[in-house]
Amino acid sequence: MTLKPLNTFSLNVYAHQVVTAHSENQLLMLWKHALQINRPALLLGSGSNVLFLENYTGTVLLNRIKGIVIREDAEAWYLHVGAGEVWHDLVIYTLERKIPGLENLALIPGYIGSAPIQNIGAYGVALQDLCEYVDIIQLDHGTKLRLNALECQFGYRDSIFKHRYRENVAIVAVGLRLSKFWRPVLNYGNLKQLDTHNVTPRQIFDTICAMRRNKLPNSKTGNAGSFFKNPLIDTKTAAQLLACYPDAPYSPQTNGGIKLAAGWLIDRCKLKGYQVGHAAVYEKQALILINIGQASGLEIATLAKYVRYIVADKFAIWLEPEVRFIGAEGEVDAIGALL
Ligand code: FAD
Ligand code: EPU
Repeated sequence: MTLKPLNTFSLNVYAHQVVTAHSENQLLMLWKHALQINRPALLLGSGSNVLFLENYTGTVLLNRIKGIVIREDAEAWYLHVGAGEVWHDLVIYTLERKIPGLENLALIPGYIGSAPIQNIGAYGVALQDLCEYVDIIQLDHGTKLRLNALECQFGYRDSIFKHRYRENVAIVAVGLRLSKFWRPVLNYGNLKQLDTHNVTPRQIFDTICAMRRNKLPNSKTGNAGSFFKNPLIDTKTAAQLLACYPDAPYSPQTNGGIKLAAGWLIDRCKLKGYQVGHAAVYEKQALILINIGQASGLEIATLAKYVRYIVADKFAIWLEPEVRFIGAEGEVDAIGALL
């Protein structure tokens, strides 16, 4: 079965089969069945953070467990959201009910179940600022666990779901806490022009949607958002780099390190528009790799490898992919695939 509509790079790859779970029991049953036929199984949301390098020999399992339950007290609204709800639809759903807090995370593609995995973030807010807990099922034995936010070990584009709970685990629900003492987060781009005292969540939502529509490719152009993570480097290395490139954008981190802008590094290497076959560096945002036609996963990977080498050659910084690489039997190490 084709995975073309199930990966935002729009790669024409195939899986042995695609099945959909609407409940926890169904999810467990489908997982068990996939393994019984001696094939691997892969959970997928909307495929907006994956790169299929080739056809997948196993079962793609779509987790579409739905449901939004809201309770509140004097301090906050507490949302329990099924993994199969669409992230952006939840942002709209809360705003329509006058529940603020998710507006900075508007228009991030994907499902709720994927959001904790890389701790989605944009425009000064990350999931970790709002997440109370994540419910998971360990698929091999059916055990259900609730991890609180601390246990999720959230970091920049990172969480325990990329490490200890990376394999054979399904996220089935996410708990969010949205404070009733709302404070706008306006420290990014055009948001700075808004008035802190009078701004509404809706205005922030609209501004972010406009910025994103302007900067990011639309869904007709295959892409997976930022292909690489922004590199985190120590202050000494950052000082050396900034002495040579004083205009390099950077942001100091709470742990003492410095985060650089990978898009700027790639742009400085004059790679915007660079092509390998039907894969290209996006002209308007160099951190995004696009499928300009009939690209294959390997063409995208070859382009990523080239970008990584050129950036390392100029800046001595090795970029790490944010996108997850999927081979014939399952996930493969993305850095290894680019060596
Ligand atoms: P998928 O790509 O389907 O899956 C991602 C990984 O999670 C895979 O390894 C998959 O096996 C695993 N997985 C999926 N569902 C489950 C589950 N229920 N349980 C366990 N494992 C699961 N990200 C940001 O953080 N900020 C942004 O601003 C942003 N902007 C983007 C803009 C564009 C145009 C695009 C295309 C992507 C952008 N992204 C951004 C990346 C992407 O939206 C996020 O990573 C999103 O959370 C992925 O959701 P998904 O459902 O598509 O996950
Ligand atoms: N820049 C350039 N040239 C480029 C691209 C960027 O000079 O071609 C510069 C910009 O001018 C800016 C800096 O680099 O000074 C950062 O760029 P931008 O604001 O576009 O954000 P980003 O760091 O490239 C990150 C996230 C995005 C998120 C935005 C907004 C990562 C890897 N990416 O992008 O998330 O939407 O910030 O918060 O952290 C994603 O993860 O898929 C994603 C899109």
